[in-house]
Amino acid sequence: MNVRRVLLVDDDAAVREALGQTLELAEFDAITAGSFVEAKDRIAAQFEGVIVSDIRMPGRDGFHLLDYAHEQDAELPVILLTGEGDIPMAVRAMSAGAFDFLEKPCAPQDLISVIERALRTRGLVLENRRLKAQLETGDPAARMIFGISPQSETLRAQARAAARAGTDVLIRGARGSGISKVAEVVHLCSTRAKGPFEKRSAAGLGREGLEAVWQGCAGGTLFLDEIAQLPLDTQLALQDRLEAGGARLIAGSVEDLGQAADEGRFSAELYYRLEVMQLRIPALAERPEDIPVLFRHYVAQAAEQSGLTPPEIGEEVIAGLIARDWPGNARALMSAAMRFVLGLGDEDAAGEGLGLTERLAQVERSLLADALKRTGGQASAAAEMLKLPRKTFYDKLAKYGLKPEESAEPLGRVELSLAITGDTAANRICADSAQAVSKTCGFRTCSARSRKVGYHRLSIRLNEKYRNRLAFEQSLMRLAHGCLVPSEGPAGERALAHHHLGRIPMKKFLMTAVAAAALTTGATGAMAACDDGEIVIKFSHVTNTDKHPKGIAASLLQERVNEEMNGKACMEVYPNSTLYNDDQVLEAMLNGDVQMAAPSLSKFEQFTKVFRIFDLPFMFLNMEAVDAFQNSETGQEMKESMVRRGLLGLGFWHNGMKQMSANKPLMMPEDAAGLKFRVQPSEVLKAQFEALDASPQPMAFSEVYGALQTGVVDGQENTWSNVYGQKFFEVQDGTTETNHGVLDYMVVTSADWWDSLDEDVRSQLETIVNEVTETRNAAIAEVDAENRQAVLDAGGEIRELTPEQREAWVNAMKPVWEQFTDDVGQENIDAAQAFNSEVQG
Ligand code: LMR
Repeated sequence: MNVRRVLLVDDDAAVREALGQTLELAEFDAITAGSFVEAKDRIAAQFEGVIVSDIRMPGRDGFHLLDYAHEQDAELPVILLTGEGDIPMAVRAMSAGAFDFLEKPCAPQDLISVIERALRTRGLVLENRRLKAQLETGDPAARMIFGISPQSETLRAQARAAARAGTDVLIRGARGSGISKVAEVVHLCSTRAKGPFEKRSAAGLGREGLEAVWQGCAGGTLFLDEIAQLPLDTQLALQDRLEAGGARLIAGSVEDLGQAADEGRFSAELYYRLEVMQLRIPALAERPEDIPVLFRHYVAQAAEQSGLTPPEIGEEVIAGLIARDWPGNARALMSAAMRFVLGLGDEDAAGEGLGLTERLAQVERSLLADALKRTGGQASAAAEMLKLPRKTFYDKLAKYGLKPEESAEPLGRVELSLAITGDTAANRICADSAQAVSKTCGFRTCSARSRKVGYHRLSIRLNEKYRNRLAFEQSLMRLAHGCLVPSEGPAGERALAHHHLGRIPMKKFLMTAVAAAALTTGATGAMAACDDGEIVIKFSHVTNTDKHPKGIAASLLQERVNEEMNGKACMEVYPNSTLYNDDQVLEAMLNGDVQMAAPSLSKFEQFTKVFRIFDLPFMFLNMEAVDAFQNSETGQEMKESMVRRGLLGLGFWHNGMKQMSANKPLMMPEDAAGLKFRVQPSEVLKAQFEALDASPQPMAFSEVYGALQTGVVDGQENTWSNVYGQKFFEVQDGTTETNHGVLDYMVVTSADWWDSLDEDVRSQLETIVNEVTETRNAAIAEVDAENRQAVLDAGGEIRELTPEQREAWVNAMKPVWEQFTDDVGQENIDAAQAFNSEVQG
């Protein structure tokens, strides 16, 4: 890969400018930043370049930047600039993992040659990752783009080339040609394959929405469908984001973007940036030889989906398909395949081979339907229009099975795309909900299609009858719950996108749809609508709100604050990583962007090593012992141990003991050897899996389901509420009840923000937090048991260990303590053990 990007970080503007010019002259793609904070957003896994940073900077220095960069991507080369003759600093830089160091002022040639070397290394790393990912996933281009025509072969080659290039991509094609699928192929063929892949409709996407989705795509790819419809203001924001890097953009368009740019509807700058790497999906009419291959594939898929045996596809069927010009492209062919499997015949091909009588009947039926449509489903007006007596008109309707109320011209249409993966229980619930919605609303058109890896698309046409806003709203809510609440795991993959093609009278309906869509992403609190003058408290967390102890506690907190502090303060809760994930939230808190969060205790070890005690395997016997330890003097002091880092703990919230699962049964520690396990970012947890000869893979919570499903990791450890809430059991062989560790939370806030509150506000808030903590912690055993049962009820397998098997796990994992005794303190270990004995009685 030809990587040329250099991120240059120096607080001295003159030096920055001089070095920046040197880099530009050497034809590097230089981006400059004056501080760590400014540079941070640009640093992400898969960054296609290298970093050059000064060490001495006010605030966060070059070492901090180096650590941060390596947390994002351990193989990202960082070149540090030291002061002249500062040997100790240089030594420290190298031992901290810097790629190289240079003394300031440095000769341009030295700088350039070190950067060249770093870029070459980076290019190789990225290319290796791409090839490795390709080996792991097979060749997505061959797997997902079907067709034997030269045009299809070219498309596959272009998709692979675009993936390799790593640039932004524009995919053009006619409607229904599968633009988003090709975008997914480009993503899967790229070095970012293991990163997130988010699809969004560009229409109506605001700056804030873009910002949130861009953050969520760090290290991955954002696909913006119908890019020409991106509001102009968001186009500008997108350009900024593209400059900053972090994610990769793939844009889809059915319209000519060049023309949109000429007409001033689309930013010319953005257009020129995108047109550099363009892919065009050829229409089906241009490659008729692909039609049989695609049709056979779609028929097999449709049969699998509907649980039917695929019917025999005769030559006459194929000949009929090839003879048509398919303006609706692959999507239309897919529908034809589904109808074929269901034995429904093919509407578009209907008419062929019919006699005069049947043809006349067809014409009559369509005239009747048309009249009904034009009169908004009013039978008498339609009868009048056709100059037919009402009785005759009704007889004819009955003959053709037409119903006036179903025939009205739709007032608008809402398209919901539910991205799903796999034929899982959650997806079946989703499909059932779609059916339920169509029934309740009596939607005239509601088609649900699913592919093994793909999405459900529900096209809902709304007509006069559905002016019943409540029914529509309830149905959408039901759909949202049915499809999204049970499948909150890979939130990004199952987000609900929506297009509205309605007319003005549908505005109300559409607003409801937006509200429902907001609910599906879980931003319940976003609807809390704070009043002017109230202190807004944003609470961000990563789990679901349904049965989850953290979700329930956060909702209760929200409810109480909004009720009891009305007029003074207002809380908005953002669950499911919709605002930040745990890696981002503490930084956001220090920046004042969010006021409260409750990350797991593993996320605090970077601030205070004593927190490592909670991650040590088999340290606590059960949650009672954990509770006693947290309430001890040591535990209470831990809440304030990060004040010098700007954070203040307000309370510990319980979750439970962790269990272990994998894609094979885990009965003895040896069963875990050689497997890849997702871990939270914690040195102890890494060491714990290394002690089992397994490979720990740190990863954000929201990515775990997808990683388990696609085999990026083989197993994971978590509590029952997370195993159930994220549906991990669906994609694992079974869960072994190891109870080997603790997963608990600390409610945390920014010390500055807390201090800025008036005394009465602070004390009322503190009281509410304490009471919620007490109430919800007291209920933890019940919630844990409920989630365990829910796993069983949903068909998950739970394996219990015999005392001997458990002993073997303890013996394999407990030696890890030795590595961390100095960090956590022997006296704290002793205290924890004493609590174990106490609760044991
Ligand atoms: C995890 O990352 O597994 C947990 O911290 C998620 C959570 O907050 O329960």
